[in-house]
Amino acid sequence: MKALNRQIVLAARPNGHARPSDFEFVERPIPVPGDGEVLFRNLLISVDPYQRNLMGNASTELPPIDIGQTMPGPTVAVVERSGNPEFAVGDHVVSWSGWREYGLSDGSDLMKVDPEAAPLSTALGVLGHTGLTAWIGTTRFLDPKPGGTFVVTAAAGSVGSVAAQIAKLRGHRVVGIAGGPEKVRYLKEELGLDEAVDYKAPDFAEQLARALPDGIDTLFENVGGRLFEALMPYFNMKAQIVICGTIAQYAFPGASDGPNRLPELLKAFLYRFIVIRGFSLTDHFDAYPEFAVEMRSWVSQDRIRYREEFVDGFENIPGAFLRLFDGSNTGKLIARLG
Ligand SMILES: NC(=O)c1ccc[n+]([C@@H]2O[C@H](COP(=O)([O-])OP(=O)(O)OC[C@H]3O[C@@H](n4cnc5c(N)ncnc54)[C@H](OP(=O)(O)O)[C@@H]3O)[C@@H](O)[C@H]2O)c1
Repeated sequence: MKALNRQIVLAARPNGHARPSDFEFVERPIPVPGDGEVLFRNLLISVDPYQRNLMGNASTELPPIDIGQTMPGPTVAVVERSGNPEFAVGDHVVSWSGWREYGLSDGSDLMKVDPEAAPLSTALGVLGHTGLTAWIGTTRFLDPKPGGTFVVTAAAGSVGSVAAQIAKLRGHRVVGIAGGPEKVRYLKEELGLDEAVDYKAPDFAEQLARALPDGIDTLFENVGGRLFEALMPYFNMKAQIVICGTIAQYAFPGASDGPNRLPELLKAFLYRFIVIRGFSLTDHFDAYPEFAVEMRSWVSQDRIRYREEFVDGFENIPGAFLRLFDGSNTGKLIARLG
């Protein structure tokens, strides 16, 4: 075992998008587990858009973490030493220990995972927090009319790709929106969506009009900002909108310098009787067992497909995180430690 525990801490609050210099690598002693405690080594570390919100100067109502604090977030780890009878050395667990090599826990925030049942990485994606987010957002708040048009933004991402496929399984006509022709191909050819639209293409407006001849009945929103504005004219009577995320806005807490579309939005909500609902995964962890049974079954029957991208090396975690904001990931992005 190594002597020191590398960690990545917040060094500065970004203005706009985060930069590598906003993070600092520090080395701290590896903790020694006491009675009832577990020392674990992180094998896989999740990078997630909400971590930008934790850095401050962000579009969120949650308080940021402190400067010098280790970046929080989910990981998959192996138990190295245990003073807790519930966990044996060699057990694999999901932790929320963040961007560090080793973590210490009393076990209450650890969930065991079986590496024989599914690849460990899926515990951070399709069978983990992003899959659960997609499942909660699509199954808990929406009362969709099967056959209606269901739009998903950031549809080639970890949450969006699963949400779009669940909507397909529930009988909707599903339109995914993502950046670039390869993602459009992935959504249509590999995930089987009815239509996919490239919001980065010069003919985006025409693509959108072609994909939405009957408007939008349900929107699973991951992006916000200008993309949401482009979708507003398509909302049908009694459209339902579930706001999962607004990644385009996270780094920009102030008002946009574009025209104020708020009156138009409120008018649409009022006269088209639109229902809009936000949610946070953190309120729904108790749904995990029910979710896991259904999602494992879908994945094993190839009814839900997923993609994962790995970035190797602890030192490359900040760079991996920044990729979430330029769209160069498809599916779940995970840092893999040596
Ligand atoms: N409510 C909750 O509890 C909860 C939990 C987890 C995640 N979320 C939210 O779910 C969303 C997706 O998260 P994820 O982990 O699955 O990430 P992801 O979709 O795998 O990765 C982020 C994707 O967002 C797109 N994107 C980034 N900046 C954008 C912009 N300015 N405009 C349009 N698209 C942009 C990029 O795809 P393109 O190539 O298509 O641009 C990028 O690949 C995020 O908003 C996240 O905060 C919410």
